[in-house]
Amino acid sequence: MRIKDCNNTADFRRLAQQRLPAPLFHYIDGGSDDEVTLRRNTEAFDSVRLIPDALADLSGMQLGVNVLGQDIDWPVFCSPTAMTRLFHHEGELAVARAAHTHKTMYSLSSLSTTSIEEVGESTPGPKCFQLYIHKDRGMSWEFIDRCKEANYSAICLTVDTLVAGNREKDLYTGMIIPPKFTLKSLFSFATHPSWSLNYLLRRKFELANVAGRISEGSGKLTSVVGYMNSQFDRSITWKDAEEAIKRWGKPFAIKGVMSVEDAKRAADIGASAVMISNHGGRQLDGSTAPFDQLADIVDAVGDRIEVILDGGVRRGTHVLKALSMGAKACMIGRGYLYAVAAGGYAGVDRALTRLRDEIERDMILMGCASIDELDRSKLHQD
Ligand SMILES: Cc1cc2nc3c(=O)[nH]c(=O)nc-3n(C[C@H](O)[C@H](O)[C@H](O)COP(=O)(O)O)c2cc1C
Repeated sequence: MRIKDCNNTADFRRLAQQRLPAPLFHYIDGGSDDEVTLRRNTEAFDSVRLIPDALADLSGMQLGVNVLGQDIDWPVFCSPTAMTRLFHHEGELAVARAAHTHKTMYSLSSLSTTSIEEVGESTPGPKCFQLYIHKDRGMSWEFIDRCKEANYSAICLTVDTLVAGNREKDLYTGMIIPPKFTLKSLFSFATHPSWSLNYLLRRKFELANVAGRISEGSGKLTSVVGYMNSQFDRSITWKDAEEAIKRWGKPFAIKGVMSVEDAKRAADIGASAVMISNHGGRQLDGSTAPFDQLADIVDAVGDRIEVILDGGVRRGTHVLKALSMGAKACMIGRGYLYAVAAGGYAGVDRALTRLRDEIERDMILMGCASIDELDRSKLHQD
């Protein structure tokens, strides 16, 4: 299987599985506990069905949206994900560049393997930085100053990760801190020599934003689990989020909001957006899916702040359903991660091309020439 044979997220998932040593594939792919929430995130879209209109004039197509103060060409952008260079040596730069090629926004994780500054310089496209508030508050606020310097467009504060979720696949494969690779997983590294050689010969692996500040950040092959549990500040509250918003002074989203009450609190403290998200089913298993919460949150705060849906998006029709329900835009995580693992920039370029094409085709099939036409009248709900 090659990149040009990949037509959808499931295909890229298969290719990523072939290309990556098993512990790394499972680190991307897995969710927490029994993965009930991971599955529900995508299945939730099946709870509504699209109602198409016929014979509308579809000679033009308008997919662009303004989100977090940025004009993007279509209503999907890239979620922040940790340690991309573990999956392909081109890492975060490949994803940022592909996002720019496709005129959409890239989000960089606090736990990235390429620094805020290097990604900032890599493209002139819109960029969102994902903030984790660390026990080292000084360093956390410095992230904000660094993003100002590096001309980022927006910041999102992730609030669902005070402790790492229980990703048991990582325990079985040894993707924990310190890494304990089992005989089986060592065999998997040996049978993926191109990945292993790249890992050994390319740039040293590190958590680039914290390297030099926190010793766990400068380690070799690691997972984020031990890092999260030792470094993240569990005492943070809405007051801290408010302080971060003030320090930044530009578009700011709270990522990981799932309840109507939290969405209202986010609006009250001056956030520009909520990202409805359960971290791709990697945190609290048994929690509800972003799409399940979308209508209530849109009804409660949609006239005050932007509502962005993050989690489970695999198809163009998922995006159309979310927008019809009232989301301003959607984000994808695994949708580009499998692709970057499959082939770096070329993989993400193809994944974004295919998803955008799907959205455009689905819009025509829906009889809509502009995403402004998507509303709840387009959804059949039981
Ligand atoms: C491998 C991996 C690493 C992630 N790392 C982060 C992170 O560092 N910060 C964060 O806010 N979210 C992180 N996420 C969650 C994503 O931002 C996003 O919420 C999730 O992937 C959306 O679900 P989807 O994968 O179904 O699209 C990560 C997700 C994955 C799969």
